[in-house]
Amino acid sequence: MAFVYTQPYFKVYKFVSYFYKPQKFTIYKKEVHMIITSCGNSVKLAKQLAKKLRCKYVPLEVGAFPDGDMLMRFKAKSFKKKKVVIVQSFQPNPDMSLFDIIWAAETAKDLGAKKVILVAPYLAYMRQDKRFNPGEAVSSRIMSKLLNKSIDKIITIDPHLHRYKSLKDIFTISAVKLTANDLIGDFIKKKIKNPVIMGPDWESYQWADKIAKQVGAESTCLAKTRFSYRRVTSKMTKDVEIKGKNVIIIDDIISTGHTIIEAAKKANKKGAKSVTAIGVHGLFVEGMDQLKKHVDYIYTTNTIEHKTNKIDILPLVLKELAKEE
Ligand code: R5P
Repeated sequence: MAFVYTQPYFKVYKFVSYFYKPQKFTIYKKEVHMIITSCGNSVKLAKQLAKKLRCKYVPLEVGAFPDGDMLMRFKAKSFKKKKVVIVQSFQPNPDMSLFDIIWAAETAKDLGAKKVILVAPYLAYMRQDKRFNPGEAVSSRIMSKLLNKSIDKIITIDPHLHRYKSLKDIFTISAVKLTANDLIGDFIKKKIKNPVIMGPDWESYQWADKIAKQVGAESTCLAKTRFSYRRVTSKMTKDVEIKGKNVIIIDDIISTGHTIIEAAKKANKKGAKSVTAIGVHGLFVEGMDQLKKHVDYIYTTNTIEHKTNKIDILPLVLKELAKEE
């Protein structure tokens, strides 16, 4: 009897499951022939990716001989037929990170890897996109030239694209730009009521304006003049109601913090109820003491590991890497 009753349900199940393949579950459970590693800056993220993608995390030892020469060693004998993913943010120690990545990529290929992918959640050198003073190096071009030779693909999050229109301007390899905009928008929607979004300079407006539209808030932008690494001034270009509002200053990079500080001063002067700073990449090269005097809250994404990390970019990278078979 029971067989007679369940038979139609079984048929319906078979029919539905033939057409309906729930993406969310299949992509993350797919067995991928990838090896995940890190040169040291993004070990936490690398391990999370390996776990979610169900592939092996291979530790990498980066040491030195007594004379200072680099000694690098993967805890693996061979990467034959494997895709090797190096997860390495360029902070802290951007120069050493670049050097480590090249060493790791060349070693991975030497050990048989068929493809080397760099996941650089934060990509350094992008702000030096021209020769600002005579005789200076255009670091972004040198960095990309070195990576073009050693890796096959780069995946990065919100790189500082100002004078370059896209990563293709400097990379000849496959280059994927992901953005944390939606994640930041969702975070704001959940956490901050009655917001006004502020871009502290013209470059940041590309993030600030999009996020403002997503959360349904008004936005404004400041015109910034930089006199030195630590001295910037800014003035408001578009008047919006700030009095009594929760102002959110959004920038791609928080380095010394002075860009945010100047914007926060404007917001406070205009009677903001609270001031929040959100950075995609929190470098905090001079700590947070000065910044904390001007803003109430500081949040960042985890492209660089820091105690202010509150917005998780793991799903972005996961989705992109799941495309690799
Ligand atoms: C530059 O245009 C970037 O978008 C950031 O505004 C800048 O790097 C922030 O630097 P700092 O925190 O040192 O003012």
